[in-house]
Amino acid sequence: MHWHGVRVPNAMDGVPFLTQKPIAPGETFTYEFDVPDAGTYWYHPHHHSAEQVGRGLAGALIVEESEPLVVNRDLVWVLRDWRLARDASIVNDFGDRMEVTMAGRIGNVVTINGHVPEKISVLAGERLRLRLINAAPARIFGLEFRDLRPLIVALDGQPVEPREPSDNRVVLGPAMRADVLLDMSGTPGATASVVDTFYRDFYKLVELEYGKEPLLRAQPLHAPSRIRSNTMPEPDIDNAEKHTAVLGGGMMSGRGMMMGMSGNGMGWSINNVAGTSHDMTPMITLSRGRSCVISIRNETAWFHPIHLHGHSFRVIARNGQPTRDREWLDTVLIPPRETADIAFVADNPGDWMFHCHILDHQDGGMTAVIRVA
Ligand code: C2O
Ligand code: CU
Ligand code: CU
Repeated sequence: MHWHGVRVPNAMDGVPFLTQKPIAPGETFTYEFDVPDAGTYWYHPHHHSAEQVGRGLAGALIVEESEPLVVNRDLVWVLRDWRLARDASIVNDFGDRMEVTMAGRIGNVVTINGHVPEKISVLAGERLRLRLINAAPARIFGLEFRDLRPLIVALDGQPVEPREPSDNRVVLGPAMRADVLLDMSGTPGATASVVDTFYRDFYKLVELEYGKEPLLRAQPLHAPSRIRSNTMPEPDIDNAEKHTAVLGGGMMSGRGMMMGMSGNGMGWSINNVAGTSHDMTPMITLSRGRSCVISIRNETAWFHPIHLHGHSFRVIARNGQPTRDREWLDTVLIPPRETADIAFVADNPGDWMFHCHILDHQDGGMTAVIRVA
């Protein structure tokens, strides 16, 4: 079991053949670790994860702040999709070659906390904290809260200066989280819809339905303050070790039709190597305590949410331009042909996975190991 985003000691990271043997049926393994940082995390197996997570093995892991944000309700929304047949059974078509080299296995039914959502009741005037977790194996969400002004207060568990999402849309690739404050500014009896506009086929995720009750308060709440930051070690960019990670492969890469299907036939690569769980030779070795910058270049025609274990990193630049928020993330979504530069202090010793969190891409070779020694 892997504790996604939590800075655990390496032996507790739950990566089969790298940090432990997989837990066989009937076996027990005890995970024991301190949680260094407050925030919204999740957990899932790391063994055959495309199918295991695809079939539902995943859950939310919330570490509360010592001084929580003042809200009326703190809600967790585990977002994901499923590929269901007409009788609602899970379609058994995991690992389809064609899908692996494209967007991954995207389902046909989207759920919140395991339910097909219809309406969620809210009160006019209340302030909600929504902890959004994308636990889907491949689907990217782009949520628009129509008629509302969502404020992002944390990303991947780490606080950010409260701000509106760009384009008014909260975009979450697989494994990414956002804590969103929603002031329910509508009137009693009204509804507000949450729409997912990431792909061309827009759909309504859920309707927020205001109760008939009177307003909880006449005036809107004060602007929220920033959540107290976790104590992440600050990378020293000027003296950082510099590395590059080039994401390659997949269909329509532009260098010949079936580019990704050639070579060893796995489809995806990092720095020209298709990673497997049989060869965990580190791609990069970092010296413990050093700051480093990894420039991740997506040379494919597809989005990739790239995740590093054991550390949070700052996203310091995108396409060569400094980012405004230099946000701390553990998973960074990189659009086709774009780059993201991440910076962190390699302070957690061990061998750590660095992979795409579209689980079909991970299985298809977009995975590597970074050693902190
Ligand atoms: Cu969410 Cu390598 O994992
Ligand atoms: Cu992880
Ligand atoms: Cu990917």
